[in-house]
Amino acid sequence: MEASIPPAMQPILTLTVNPALDVSTSTDRVISGHKLRCGSSRLDPGGGGVNVARVVQRLGGQTLAVYTAGGPTGEAYRRLIEAERIPSLVVPIQGSTRQDFTVDETATGEQFRFVLEGPEMSDAEWHACLALVAGSIPVGGYVVASGSLPPGVPQDFYARVARLARERGARCIVDASGSALAEALAEGVFLVKPSRRELGLHFGATLETYESQVAAASALVADGSAEHVALTLGGEGAVLASKSGVTRLPVPQVQVRSTVGAGDSFLAAFVLRIAQGRSPEAAFRAAVAAGSATVMTPATELCHREDVERLETELAAGLT
Ligand SMILES: Nc1ncnc2c1ncn2[C@@H]1O[C@H](COP(=O)(O)OP(=O)(O)OP(=O)(O)O)[C@@H](O)[C@H]1O
Ligand SMILES: [Mg+2]
Repeated sequence: MEASIPPAMQPILTLTVNPALDVSTSTDRVISGHKLRCGSSRLDPGGGGVNVARVVQRLGGQTLAVYTAGGPTGEAYRRLIEAERIPSLVVPIQGSTRQDFTVDETATGEQFRFVLEGPEMSDAEWHACLALVAGSIPVGGYVVASGSLPPGVPQDFYARVARLARERGARCIVDASGSALAEALAEGVFLVKPSRRELGLHFGATLETYESQVAAASALVADGSAEHVALTLGGEGAVLASKSGVTRLPVPQVQVRSTVGAGDSFLAAFVLRIAQGRSPEAAFRAAVAAGSATVMTPATELCHREDVERLETELAAGLT
């Protein structure tokens, strides 16, 4: 068989300032006061930007993943990244990389996700992280800054990344919430991907109706906060607001096994297709396909390329 040549694409850098070593397992039922005997466990290198890098790679593209790592968990994290052959640059930190813990309850199909805060980062460490990003931003390419900020990192961190990207002619994509998102929007970015909860928090509204969702997403485009706003509504579809107008897509009906990494997969497919020169509408379909392909896989497992491409074709044909 001939090796497939990835389509030409503009370079993508991902940034993960608060990565997490994801530990996942299963147990019959989560009950207090008992020893909960668990099944086999699995370790994954998680955290927003790194998940984006892993999905881009699965879909045939490539990224440079910049991330922080420290302590024994950071060491394990680095090994997992190396095993997946993800091109990366590491910012060493004094604290220990956090762990996240996901437990699937087999009796009910419920999932419990314990998300830890992350190690305190010093001023010198986050400045070093920014300097590394500044030196690696691909001119004319994309920077994806995704995930929470650990303690010690200022809330304008992603706004600073957005400014650096703009200075180097790169487009910045931010997936964050609260004031980190607000500051990035004030700076101006290429794309944001809030969930309903995150966009609602930004506007102090519940955004229950479709009209209010479109109004909120479109307002960010109109005032120059973002060129594109992809609002994801879990199983209820997604909305893309751009200068050219608003597109709405239903999500494909799939068997939901685990939503871990769904938003990151959405973002990965969006940026990959844009970097490959596709239209925002085509990128949006790929994004919904990748998000939904990830919820089909158990626990922390991310999407499979065949599922993404099948769902992408179905969405393009209006079959879902
Ligand atoms: N029940 C579902 N059925 C099909 N696809 C889904 C479902 N839930 C999520 N998805 C897919 O994952 C994408 C992202 O999901 P969601 O809106 O929950 O964002 P998220 O970033 O994972 O959420 P949050 O950051 O709040 O945890 C959706 O656009 C969709 O493609
Ligand atoms: Mg999200």
